[in-house]
Amino acid sequence: MSKVLVIGAGGVGSVAVHKMAQISKVQPEIFSHISIASRTKAKCDAIAESVRARTGVTVDTYTIDAEDIPALSALIARIGPKLVVNLALPYQDLTIMEACLATGTHYLDTANYEPRDEAKFEYHWQWAYHDRFREKGLMALLGSGFDPGVTSVFTMWLKKHKLKTIRTLDILDCNGGDHGQPFATNFNPEINIREVTAPARHWLNGAWVETPAMTIRENFDFEGVGPKNMYLMYHEELESLARFVPEAERLRFWMTFGDAYIQHLTVLQNVGMTRIDPVIYEGREIIPLQFLKAVLPEPSSLGSTTTGKTNIGNIATGEALDGSGEKTFYINNICDHEDAFHETGNQAVSYTTGVPAMIGAAMMLSGAWSGEGVFNIEQFDPDPFMDMLNRHGLPWQVKELAGPLQF
Ligand SMILES: NC(=O)c1ccc[n+]([C@@H]2O[C@H](COP(=O)([O-])OP(=O)(O)OC[C@H]3O[C@@H](n4cnc5c(N)ncnc54)[C@H](OP(=O)(O)O)[C@@H]3O)[C@@H](O)[C@H]2O)c1
Repeated sequence: MSKVLVIGAGGVGSVAVHKMAQISKVQPEIFSHISIASRTKAKCDAIAESVRARTGVTVDTYTIDAEDIPALSALIARIGPKLVVNLALPYQDLTIMEACLATGTHYLDTANYEPRDEAKFEYHWQWAYHDRFREKGLMALLGSGFDPGVTSVFTMWLKKHKLKTIRTLDILDCNGGDHGQPFATNFNPEINIREVTAPARHWLNGAWVETPAMTIRENFDFEGVGPKNMYLMYHEELESLARFVPEAERLRFWMTFGDAYIQHLTVLQNVGMTRIDPVIYEGREIIPLQFLKAVLPEPSSLGSTTTGKTNIGNIATGEALDGSGEKTFYINNICDHEDAFHETGNQAVSYTTGVPAMIGAAMMLSGAWSGEGVFNIEQFDPDPFMDMLNRHGLPWQVKELAGPLQF
């Protein structure tokens, strides 16, 4: 039996549960039973109903505050899953890890812990749990989404099959989708805006180089999307890649944004609506960014109107494995928003995160990846994960480029 409990009923949780249900029909030994728990049970019920209608598989639903460790531990003990898949928000990572330790359950997530009062995504809070997971014989897999997640698996696949060493690595994240709204974020607005408004950081010759947010821009022609402006940003996999690809001279992360998104964000920042410190409004404290989230469209509501594609991948330059000198490879996935919606009722940003979360869970539950302690995705054999990407909706392609990026 390999029961799984998913926590979080947003777009990512929805895709992961739909994909787990698809697999449970053909390989019940991997996902023998699926439960989903979240703060709002009605959202879990809606996902379970969609899964039942599309696949015939029954998913059990529960309400839970994942920051309440005793209540969460009691729920996990009651359900008895082998693995908890955390698709709630980064704020809940540590409490869910605590409940997993208390109940002897393996753990997986897609985003590293962030304290609420500081937009600081760093792994050290979760790496500090390594010995406690190891002592209990449990495994925690961090960052099994697309970025972080697939982008790190892509890197390790290139290191296994194409490049002996990686000198430079650029991760290019393009969402060429159009949702028809003047301004909306394609995943949780609070987390998305905290990420985008944080200073940019890239790794250069063994140290972090910090630049103001959204100030370094390049234009890149993305297959399936066309030319887009992309901005240098900090993204959490740069920290684990710096650790697990120690020879890299330079690691950078780029994300595309349209002019309308930048204009809206600039105004919102200028008027203080992206602040994460409390302000007093009508006698009570509110966090402006949390209020903004409440008035923006829910990302999970954008699926039915979103058209276009995402194109996310890595360009890596280094010494070729076959001894033929320095080579550059581009490895990426292109995902269609409408196809993703047709299959799961969610747009491609949720899809490209939920599928790798399901695959990471399958790696753990099937025993393809195992270990005791806290691990990043770079620490495992990329081949079985890459194989599942091809078979479960996120096919990838790799090609050699004429030379390194010119910027
Ligand atoms: N690695 C990647 O590539 C990648 C990409 C995109 C997103 N992500 C991560 O994926 C996660 C989910 O994203 P999303 O877009 O699905 O977000 P979302 O739509 O906001 O969904 C988050 C869900 O978590 C629930 N939740 C929040 N606080 C909770 C608590 N204390 N207890 C229980 N449930 C709680 C929410 O409940 P309510 O519905 O009641 O609010 C909601 O159902 C986030 O951590 C995000 O950072 C990773």
